[in-house]
Amino acid sequence: MLTEGFVGWKRVAALATLAMLLAHGAAGAQSAADPHAAHPPDKTGGTTAAQPDAAGTSSARDSGSMAGMPMGTTPPAGAPMGDDDHAAHHPDKAGSMAVPQPAPADGMPAQSSSSMNGMPMSATPPADASAGDDDHAAHHPDATASMPASSGASMAGSMGGMMAGSMGGMMDDMMRGCRGDECGRDRRLNKLLYPQLMALPDLPPERRASVEQLAHHRMHEGIQLLASLSSEASHAVQRNDYGGLQEASDRMRVAWGEFDSGLSAYRALAEGQAPRGIALAWFRREMNLTDPLTTAPAHGVFGLSGFHYFTMALLLAFALLAAWMYVARTRRTNAVLATLRTGAPVPPAPAAAPRSGVAPAPAASVFPGVPAEGEPQARAPVSTMGGWVGKLRVARVFQETPKVKTFRLAPVEGVGALPFEFEPGQFLTLSVHSGGNQVKRSYSIASSPCCHGWCDLTVKHESGGIVSGYLHEQVKEGDLLDASGPYGRFTFRGVESDSVVFLGGGVGITPLMSSIRYLTDQSWNGRIDLVYACKDLESVIFRDELNQLARRHPNLHVSIVLSDESSAAWTGPRGFITAELLGQIPQIRSRRIHLCGPSVMMDAVRNELGKLGIDLASVHSELFLSPSRTVPPGLEVSAGDTATAVTCSFERSGKKAPLAAGQTVLEAAEEVGVPIEYACRQGYCGLCKIKLLSGEVTMDVDDGLTPLDRSSGVILACQAKASADISVDA
Ligand SMILES: Cc1cc2nc3c(=O)[nH]c(=O)nc-3n(C[C@H](O)[C@H](O)[C@H](O)COP(=O)(O)OP(=O)(O)OC[C@H]3O[C@@H](n4cnc5c(N)ncnc54)[C@H](O)[C@@H]3O)c2cc1C
Ligand code: FES
Repeated sequence: MLTEGFVGWKRVAALATLAMLLAHGAAGAQSAADPHAAHPPDKTGGTTAAQPDAAGTSSARDSGSMAGMPMGTTPPAGAPMGDDDHAAHHPDKAGSMAVPQPAPADGMPAQSSSSMNGMPMSATPPADASAGDDDHAAHHPDATASMPASSGASMAGSMGGMMAGSMGGMMDDMMRGCRGDECGRDRRLNKLLYPQLMALPDLPPERRASVEQLAHHRMHEGIQLLASLSSEASHAVQRNDYGGLQEASDRMRVAWGEFDSGLSAYRALAEGQAPRGIALAWFRREMNLTDPLTTAPAHGVFGLSGFHYFTMALLLAFALLAAWMYVARTRRTNAVLATLRTGAPVPPAPAAAPRSGVAPAPAASVFPGVPAEGEPQARAPVSTMGGWVGKLRVARVFQETPKVKTFRLAPVEGVGALPFEFEPGQFLTLSVHSGGNQVKRSYSIASSPCCHGWCDLTVKHESGGIVSGYLHEQVKEGDLLDASGPYGRFTFRGVESDSVVFLGGGVGITPLMSSIRYLTDQSWNGRIDLVYACKDLESVIFRDELNQLARRHPNLHVSIVLSDESSAAWTGPRGFITAELLGQIPQIRSRRIHLCGPSVMMDAVRNELGKLGIDLASVHSELFLSPSRTVPPGLEVSAGDTATAVTCSFERSGKKAPLAAGQTVLEAAEEVGVPIEYACRQGYCGLCKIKLLSGEVTMDVDDGLTPLDRSSGVILACQAKASADISVDA
């Protein structure tokens, strides 16, 4: 509403301005046609007439300033003539007319100006000036006679009616280019032409003839005046009277306006042109208004220039570049964050392409499953059934005892984090080629999971052993080993209970050592008791380190038991792990117990624990037992054994195999070429799980099974033995 009102007021103001200018211009023009214009201009009059612009401009300027409307522009062509005439009749006022005066001095009260500012001028441009003319006629019957009565129906009439009362008369004077009460005394000069053109189509014939006569008269007067002024100018040139020349020039411009206004009106009548269009064109020209429809001709596709399209393309390219930079930066940030999470080395930022334009390709990995150099590594999460298969580089080899070596394994690149995570007590499975066969052996990780960059495998050299012999005799620093893992549930990291008892024998210390290292790394506050059985002092693995840790961590209590130590220097326990020794461990019956070592040692310890009334089922244990046979394992089955064998049907493969007494399902499957995956062959990793379809089996170790596995008929092929025919899903 406010906007509409504002627009409406603007229109009103513009129309009122048009009306006032039309009236003003017409007044001057009519004055030129008035008989008074024929009076030879005296010096005063000449001076006044020689400054028509000043008078006219003053009038227009005053009007504009009073009304607050844009009227301070070039005065209408005929206006000065009106002022000339007026000055000729009122020389006393002519001076004041010629020189712009402040409004109050001109006789126009200042408050009138201000009151006009708020005057509602919503009427259409006045088409008649009858009121003003009538009023004029009352004072100048002669002038009224020369002015058709119908003119009052046009511009001045409307404006006069609109501006009733004293303000109406004042407005009429202003529109006619008058100031103060001058026009009020000489309204004979008001002979409107352009306002009459606005209402020309509606003019009656007699009024039309009057306008035609008036237009003709203007042209005639204009031409005569031009001729006279031309002569005047010529004389001024001869006299080198530049002031006179300037004066003549100014008056010639006014005379030309006189002629032009008459010609326009005459053509409108003679050629049938729209008089209103002529009046409006004159108004635009005088007000320096451009035609909105012709100011900006459309050009180019969709009316847009080439520069416009170029600018748009430039902005679009900039936006695309910014988006690409954002995506690249986000990817780089994500890569760095992922690397920081896994501990792998930060991948280098993509290098700038060489001059050849061919970007350098990252060095391809020569090992399957091993990321190439520079590629970010993601560590395989902790799992009881492996999840990672690949190569590790032997970084260091430590001689722990005469028969035991530690192999420190690191990523193939030699730097960064291991490609997998593990828990203390888990193991890896190594695969070595021996005699054309692939042989797998499992080895506990002895180091702490706090060491992300490497892990230790501590291996005892078994007499005649395939893998332990290979490791001890052939493997050196820098070699690569095929490994998989980690596996196993024989883990303790301090959250399972608030204290723990570790019972180990020989190389069986390795998974227990991983937990001890981890717990002390974490400064775990729970009580740790280690009872470690070895043959003699020189076979005690990690002896110095254990003593040092016990000194630094008062919650760690280490007790080493030597069975064959001959030295009298040894003051510690001798013999084997007995119930008496175990009974000295505080609250052993209620504490968590982990047991690991050779089978003979483990059997003996179990017996002693039983003596203390400890539930053996609650004892966590892991047996370091080598597979009874190497690949191919079934070759060692004797004919006699085969004769007593039952049958194992591998339903999915459609094969059957004899299952000798003591032979596992895994061994039987390998005889007939049925593939079953495996790692530890000791019932710990769970890789050899298969579904039992019919029959019954027994398993010495089933640590690799979950309760759900057991309830759903899943068995461990490496442990399953049968005394009657069975069928399995393999
Ligand atoms: C979960 C797990 C973790 C383990 N962790 C470790 C560890 O940390 N450190 C470690 O040193 N060991 C560990 N072991 C044991 C390891 O896996 C191997 O069993 C051990 O290294 C021996 O393997 P080998 O290939 O060297 O010997 P094998 O060739 O398997 O022989 C083992 C022994 O059996 C004898 N033998 C081989 N074949 C026959 C046969 N037909 N008849 C009679 N005797 C035979 C050999 O002479 C040898 O003394 C672990 C075992 C398991 C299951
Ligand atoms: S091979 Fe590991 S449980 Fe059977």
